[in-house]
Amino acid sequence: MTVTTNNPKTEAVPADLVTFTIDGTEVSVPKGTLIIRAAEQAGIQIPRFCDHPLLAPAGACRQCLVEVSMPDREGNVRPMPKPQASCTMTVAPGMIVKTQHTSAVADKAQQGVMELLLMNHPLDCPVCDKGGECPLQNQAMSNGRTDTRFVDVKRTFPKPIALSTQILLDRERCVLCQRCTRFSEEIAGDAFIALQDRGAHQQIGRFDEDVLGFAGAESSTGPVDRPVGEATTDTSGRPFSSYYSGNTVQICPVGALTGAGYRFRSRPFDLVSTESIAEHDSCGSAIRIDHRRGQVLRRLSGEDPVVNEEWITDKDRFAFTWQTATDRITTPLVREGGTLRPASWVEALEIAAAGLAKARQAGGVGVLPGGRLTVEDAFAWSRFARTALGTNDVDQRARVHSAEEAAFLAHVVAGSGVGVTFGDLEQAPAVLLVGLEAEEEAGITFLRLRKGTQGPAKTKVFSIAPYATRGLTRLDGTLLPAAPGTEAEWLTSLTTSLAPEGSGIDTGALAQPGAVILVGERLAGSPGAYAAALGLAEATGARLAWIPRRAGERGGVEAGLLPELLPGGRPVADAAARAQIAEAWGGEVPGTPGRDTTGILAALVDGALGGAIIGGVELADLPDPAAARAALDAAGFVVSLEVRASEVTERADVVLPVAPPVERAGSYWNWEGRVRSFGAALESSALPDHRVLHVLAQHLGVDLQAASPTEAHLSIAMTQRGAWDGDRLRVQRGVPTGPPSIRPGQAVLATWRLQLDVGRGQDGEQFLAGTAKLPVARLSAATAAAFGVADGDEVTVSTQRGAIGVPAVVTDGMVDGVVWLPLNSAGCRVHETLGAAAGDLVTVAPHVSDTQVTPVTRTSDNSEGKAL
Ligand code: SF4
Ligand code: FES
Repeated sequence: MTVTTNNPKTEAVPADLVTFTIDGTEVSVPKGTLIIRAAEQAGIQIPRFCDHPLLAPAGACRQCLVEVSMPDREGNVRPMPKPQASCTMTVAPGMIVKTQHTSAVADKAQQGVMELLLMNHPLDCPVCDKGGECPLQNQAMSNGRTDTRFVDVKRTFPKPIALSTQILLDRERCVLCQRCTRFSEEIAGDAFIALQDRGAHQQIGRFDEDVLGFAGAESSTGPVDRPVGEATTDTSGRPFSSYYSGNTVQICPVGALTGAGYRFRSRPFDLVSTESIAEHDSCGSAIRIDHRRGQVLRRLSGEDPVVNEEWITDKDRFAFTWQTATDRITTPLVREGGTLRPASWVEALEIAAAGLAKARQAGGVGVLPGGRLTVEDAFAWSRFARTALGTNDVDQRARVHSAEEAAFLAHVVAGSGVGVTFGDLEQAPAVLLVGLEAEEEAGITFLRLRKGTQGPAKTKVFSIAPYATRGLTRLDGTLLPAAPGTEAEWLTSLTTSLAPEGSGIDTGALAQPGAVILVGERLAGSPGAYAAALGLAEATGARLAWIPRRAGERGGVEAGLLPELLPGGRPVADAAARAQIAEAWGGEVPGTPGRDTTGILAALVDGALGGAIIGGVELADLPDPAAARAALDAAGFVVSLEVRASEVTERADVVLPVAPPVERAGSYWNWEGRVRSFGAALESSALPDHRVLHVLAQHLGVDLQAASPTEAHLSIAMTQRGAWDGDRLRVQRGVPTGPPSIRPGQAVLATWRLQLDVGRGQDGEQFLAGTAKLPVARLSAATAAAFGVADGDEVTVSTQRGAIGVPAVVTDGMVDGVVWLPLNSAGCRVHETLGAAAGDLVTVAPHVSDTQVTPVTRTSDNSEGKAL
């Protein structure tokens, strides 16, 4: 409530405020405020089901009826003939609203609506997942009749319908509030369910008459002969597909929508809730972890208006069992006689420290901490590398990377604080995406961009990419078609206003106040692109932001987990910068810029480095996993800090177990530059990385000052003291390779990760895996024709290393001469099988049955079919 007064005549009310009366209290609220919102601000509760502050008003459930009187032209206040829905009516000057608290009419109306809703609602609260946190249950008590007059047989439906392997629908519980359908239309833009039929038979369902049983007159009341729980395609032939479907479960005010993984597993009142931050991407989404007796049973979206509002991706919601997988490492391990055996912490730390000291003498130790660290861990890793190991051979990037990217991060990102925000995206007149597929790689970013395109700013989205993804289409975005490796050409042409006529974008679009350029980590594989993006931002004044995939990468940049970078954007090569860090850390900081990930792995092979210490790195994430395996096999000594058994632990000499996010406190630095702190949800004796490194450093005679979260924070504060205002690394423009010369039968590979794939963070989530897109090979019509491939044909994409067989999808508007594959999906593991990365040449051919290919494992009913 902006202003509340009981005597507005004596107080001036600003012109944009409206004064009205609710339950006898005069209230002034901003013009356009809905009665139900004004009531909330005045502390007056009105029951509701369909109302949701982030969805457009629908007036669907009628539960929020209130009595309204309005002044006529003569100023006489007259009651409206019927109760009004307070969630659809805005306040007006002189309006008098009486809620159920002061009006018998409103109270009776609400009780009547409740009685109608309960007529067909099953009395299955004792077994319903929503029981205990159900608005219908609660409001039936507060705003319903004490007894029932309904004596007939309740309407029933076969149940549940599987909208997907993950989302189940029990239609008889539905109160037809349309929150789910409105969410999917308005917020995610991927309507997968709809309000269907009319009258008593009206119901929510997917677009499949067969499943819903609408085909004949008898179907509305009779059972439908279909296996319970079967997931099928909709009538467009496209299976259910949404990365945001779990939000419908959370906002469903009854138990009509449930998640398969949580269904029937717990009662809400048995759960303990802990606020946390999602670990699956760099958005830093607020989540709530619900656990019971030491076991996480579900995750929900938290509420954070500035970041994820009230939405999270299905990955953030459903992918959490990786933290308790059976391959969790629970005790330190040391290698003896070629095999790992359990050891005490004391023994393992002594062996690790001795081995690292020896490796340091034998050339040095490479440090590969991975991109999933908390801020506290990242600073501890950085300090450990510099002070305990005396090296700048440290690189967090377990992915395609380049020196140009490292310089870009040091120049633009490190120490820049909060830059472009989610809110800025909603207000931006134009946003250019390059090297980034927002829905797949930073899901909440996509939702906030979409809000911008639908809101007053009418944000225009442009994407430099090889094809218009389904996400870009739902942003009403414009594709600036580019083969991998040619992004710099587009960026340069925009800088010089030479964008092709009709492309829909020019320098002017990005020169508008508030315009934004979002660059993804994939630009590291496109020489010259980072420098060109920086040049474009400088030429147009557009704001520039970097969005990595992993939760820890921004924090890692701030902590200096790069070979030429110290904390706060300080260059390693700058003596003054080193002196500042040396003073904060109380030790020497080496002055020679180090090796990057590729260099470290190569140095392990040729013996230039004596060993390595490795954090949460999956070798399969690296562009050449086979080479990475060979490097670790050749390494003199390897220490691994890991949560679960991995290809690194298999090769390590000492394995030190560390805690997953759910068992420790910490912070992520999201891509905006916001520090997102969280507490431990579960009690655990597992140690965070910073604690393990602290003790390991003690064995090496160094105090890391990271024994506890408090000490780690103090240490970080000391390290960050005073912003670096000296010279930063300059972005040396990589030489664009341009389109390679393509021989007949070849195409340029385009690839990125889908949000749901076979990443280890989704391990154990069988229901979620069922909603992952099936891998396909995308080709333009001309390219497909050149290969003799028709839409839907099996196609083989190969290199000398291996071959992948997937269905072809002919894609409108796609760049010719390019084939796109999902990077890490079931049966389509590009790095692993092809040993190739985006921009490399691959051979494409119609599938021949005796070709040795990696078969696609159809774990899902979903695909990126042509209808997308
Ligand atoms: Fe509302 Fe739930 Fe029914 Fe959807 S399924 S209309 S959210 S009650
Ligand atoms: Fe107002 Fe549903 S909450 S009609």
